[in-house]
Amino acid sequence: MRKLMNIPEEGVDAQVLLEEMQAKKKDDADWRQGKVWSLVYHLSDEHTDLLKKAYASFFAENFLNPMAFVSLKQMETEIVEMCADMLHGDGNVVGTMTSGGTESIMMAMYAYRQRARTHKPWVRRPEVVGPASLHPAFRKAADYFNIKLVEAPLKDDFTVDVRAMKRKIGRNTIALAASAPQYPQGVVDPIEEIAAIARQKKLPFHVDCCIGGFMLPWVEKLGFSIPKFDFRVDGVTSISADVHKYGYSAKGASVVLYKNIDYLKYQFYVSTVWLGGIYVSPAMQGTKSGGSIAAAWAAMKHLGKNGYMAMAKETMEVTRQVIERIGAIPELEIMGKPHMSLVSYRSCDPDVDIFVVADQMEERGWHHDRLQHPNGIHVTVTAHHAGILDQYFSDLIEVVAYVKSHPELVGGNAAMYGMLAKIPQALGKMGQLGVRKVIEKMYHPDFDARDMNKITESSGDPVMALFEKYGNDVLDWMNKLDATKVLIVDSAKEQIKQRSRGLLGRK
Ligand SMILES: Cc1ncc(COP(=O)(O)O)c(C=O)c1O
Repeated sequence: MRKLMNIPEEGVDAQVLLEEMQAKKKDDADWRQGKVWSLVYHLSDEHTDLLKKAYASFFAENFLNPMAFVSLKQMETEIVEMCADMLHGDGNVVGTMTSGGTESIMMAMYAYRQRARTHKPWVRRPEVVGPASLHPAFRKAADYFNIKLVEAPLKDDFTVDVRAMKRKIGRNTIALAASAPQYPQGVVDPIEEIAAIARQKKLPFHVDCCIGGFMLPWVEKLGFSIPKFDFRVDGVTSISADVHKYGYSAKGASVVLYKNIDYLKYQFYVSTVWLGGIYVSPAMQGTKSGGSIAAAWAAMKHLGKNGYMAMAKETMEVTRQVIERIGAIPELEIMGKPHMSLVSYRSCDPDVDIFVVADQMEERGWHHDRLQHPNGIHVTVTAHHAGILDQYFSDLIEVVAYVKSHPELVGGNAAMYGMLAKIPQALGKMGQLGVRKVIEKMYHPDFDARDMNKITESSGDPVMALFEKYGNDVLDWMNKLDATKVLIVDSAKEQIKQRSRGLLGRK
């Protein structure tokens, strides 16, 4: 049995703790040097300082009760209005703040499910139809709220096949969804065409602008050709946009906007029977720190339109260089035609396994997201990356040459996103069950996260070392359970069947 850590009998000196926390960071991804191609949006130390001060000044205030903290309600209203204006909404557009893109998407899906209970009372298992490239937050929402997510196949340019999407709409469809842009290849779906179908079928339509909401408006103003994606498009009924991404706010800030209150009202949760009194909540969280609202408000007001334009201009210049320099490496090619600053590339040389390239780059300290179906490397470009481009491309060119001259190197780690940054492909291929088992391990009483540092010191790679240590348990578990293997194979076969049906565009 593991020994639980106790709260110390006597409190530890604040300075000692602060130093200990700094020391804990030593094995974290090195975003300061620009070696992380996602996860962190850093503008400048001066800007971060403002965010910290704004956050700290509303650190204690609790948005659970906006009557008690009117200041927070006022700031939320102003953030929502500024976002609605940025995304070309009119005076009817309303919305709420949430903790991030996932919550915004989940709230829109929840609102449409609740709405369908009134508008389509015959629907037992509501369905939302959208591209196969939708962020997993949609699938998460579908699982949480008992909705079926019906995925439409993509075209060669990674945008959704609108005709196939239309064919998937049925009696149980309660809403449509698409992205501007989708995360993996950074392309904007044909929002206008989908909106026309939404109007024709009288369906609500959510556009996921979580990552694009604070870039596309400025990129468009800079003269880049961007398909119409926001409230200008008749038929778009809701949009999610994250202030904590290209809005350059502190983490914990996103908005979900609706065309009018007739949609938003279905998002609210009300309980009138509790002993503690009547409970009303606009989104998922109960207690909510005022800090993230204050920092978002300060970020938007401080940067202003001109600040965002300047940031977008620099970011697009760095993106241009990234695309050009990847294009100059004969073994690599850009996937699709990115509309803004999300770029992905893959190998076009059979001797170069792109995941091995990613592994080798990681050994040199570069942190990427990996894509699957097809395999590739994703980079979220920010202006902060300008200073490290030379180093990045000199490493990438060397790594590609090395991988090419070592064709025996195949496999690499699986494409993972989010919590488990990477796992060996063998486990990834085992599908849901394999990955689930790994997460269970990480939260099991036998797992000690404090070991991770020691593991790192011995092997230099915390996640791989983790798998050296725990991965075998998982594989053993799988090998022992023949029945599980059958299940995995069956579910993999079923997935392949569904996918190929989807790709053929049949229902
Ligand atoms: C297109 C898109 N939607 C949704 C999300 C989810 O946002 P979050 O991680 O803030 O929950 C992301 C995150 O990158 C995204 O790129």
